[in-house]
Amino acid sequence: MSFRTMATGLTLAVMIAGCGSEAVTTESTFATDSAAQAAAVGISHGEYVARLGNCVACHSIPEGEPLAGGLKMAVPMLGNIYATNITPDDTHGIGMYTFDEFDRVMRTGVARDGHRLYPAMPYPSYAKMSEQDMRALYDFLMNEVEPANEPNLPSDITGFKSQRWPLAIWNLLTVDDNPYTPDDSKSDLFNRGAYLVEGLGHCGACHTPRGLLMQEKALDSSDSDYLSGAPLDHWMASSLNGDPNSGLGRWEEADIVEFLKTGHNRFGTAFGTMVEVVNNSTTHMSDDDLQGMAEYLKSLSAVAESGATPYSYSDAETQQLLALDFSKTGSQVYYEYCSNCHVTSGAGYYPYQPPLAGNPVVMDPDPSSLINITLNGSLRVIADEGPDVNDMPYFRQLLSDQQIADAITFIRSSWGNSAPPVSAGQVTEIRAATDPSRNDDIFVLRMK
Ligand code: HEC
Ligand code: HEC
Ligand code: HEC
Repeated sequence: MSFRTMATGLTLAVMIAGCGSEAVTTESTFATDSAAQAAAVGISHGEYVARLGNCVACHSIPEGEPLAGGLKMAVPMLGNIYATNITPDDTHGIGMYTFDEFDRVMRTGVARDGHRLYPAMPYPSYAKMSEQDMRALYDFLMNEVEPANEPNLPSDITGFKSQRWPLAIWNLLTVDDNPYTPDDSKSDLFNRGAYLVEGLGHCGACHTPRGLLMQEKALDSSDSDYLSGAPLDHWMASSLNGDPNSGLGRWEEADIVEFLKTGHNRFGTAFGTMVEVVNNSTTHMSDDDLQGMAEYLKSLSAVAESGATPYSYSDAETQQLLALDFSKTGSQVYYEYCSNCHVTSGAGYYPYQPPLAGNPVVMDPDPSSLINITLNGSLRVIADEGPDVNDMPYFRQLLSDQQIADAITFIRSSWGNSAPPVSAGQVTEIRAATDPSRNDDIFVLRMK
């Protein structure tokens, strides 16, 4: 822990408890110490922390050396940057970082040489890491990862826009760099889940809407914007709060655990950018950790749909499809191109083809994910039993914007689902902005 964060933490403890040393010594470390969970899955403490933080998703690319950097990331309105080499190479990596310098960059985004990182690196979440976990992560990167002599790619942000000093102001306004403090009124498991979801797992980096400064509008559950769903890279990271239809209101804790462990459950399958989270991070987590996250997520209340009637199945469209009655918009496209897998009742075949009836992502107010997966398909889930044999075909060449809009409008308004229609213009926009070639490769990103 750096001197600065330690000082802040102590002042806070003194203010709250009236007695600094007591507050510190009686605190349970279960919530914030990952060593026992690492032992349960049989890897080192530091490697486990790197899994929890999913460093590999950004800092490794399939064709590169582990953690040698390279992923291109868009910074809205400015341009593109690349995730850097975080192997212990002295020249191009982080070999020269002391622990205190590493702690500073992970919590505040200030690099060893003083330059400020763009918040594409989710340090506002990593700031919540405990000191034990930070030290273990540092040891892993320094001692278990091979140094890679791989230069960093320059960003294409140039001229005045490349000035990084505005990031200092950004930090002052938006970042709280204090480690997570367990809530004594909650169970150990709940606190562990909060520590993972708000902190290392940086779930909010995708699932929380951003404000004017591109900051996440909330970093914990004290604010109803937290994890209420947000668009990123033409995918919609859907709401994880208690909303009954488009959130997790109808899910049991066991459904959340299954989804994060295997990439699917009775409500749906992970797709889009969520596949990278499941494949590289959550599927590697211990059962206790998954349970803790589920308990924490189920504590989030309904917001946009509080008071709405929860979804219930209706078989009207099933009967129409079986009778070959295609009077409803989109029903014929659905019947011809989708019903082989998602079936006439919209129920799919668990666990191979996801249901569309009652699936929260299908009822999301923002249809981006539905349009994107229908145009482009999705990467494969690779959970512990190996790659999923089934995946969603891509219809970019086969169907027009109008046909795709109609099929999606149909699934959003059938079998009891209720969500606004989709226009051809919305499909045109995402078609133009996304990559026509789906990546069919099955790859696993390596950490060491
Ligand atoms: C969502 C993508 C993403 C994830 C996840 C991520 N990083 Fe980063 N990281 C970046 C980007 C992008 C940069 C470069 C930012 C810049 O240049 O302003 C970066 C920079 C860094 C740096 C600064 C290195 C230097 O050049 O001095 C360190 C250290 C680092 N990351 C460590 C980690 C660790 C450890 C993890 C996992 C716990 C992690 N990152 C997870 C995107 C990510
Ligand atoms: C890189 C962006 C990204 C990050 C980080 C991310 N998610 Fe997601 N997540 C998505 C997207 C996009 C979807 C919608 C597609 C789908 O259902 O798989 C999603 C969907 C989900 C769903 C299914 C919701 C539903 O209604 O079907 C759950 C549960 C979930 N995420 C949990 C998490 C948790 C827990 C974390 C943190 C450990 C996390 N996500 C981090 C992008 C992300
Ligand atoms: C060959 C089987 C198949 C066909 C045909 C098919 N899908 Fe899919 N679909 C899948 C699979 C499998 C997934 C799960 C994601 C993945 O693994 O790629 C999926 C996922 C989806 C999802 C995201 C739901 C979730 O929770 O994963 C939507 C929306 C969707 N499909 C819509 C459609 C539409 C619209 C059509 C017709 C235009 C269609 N699908 C045709 C197999 C299929």
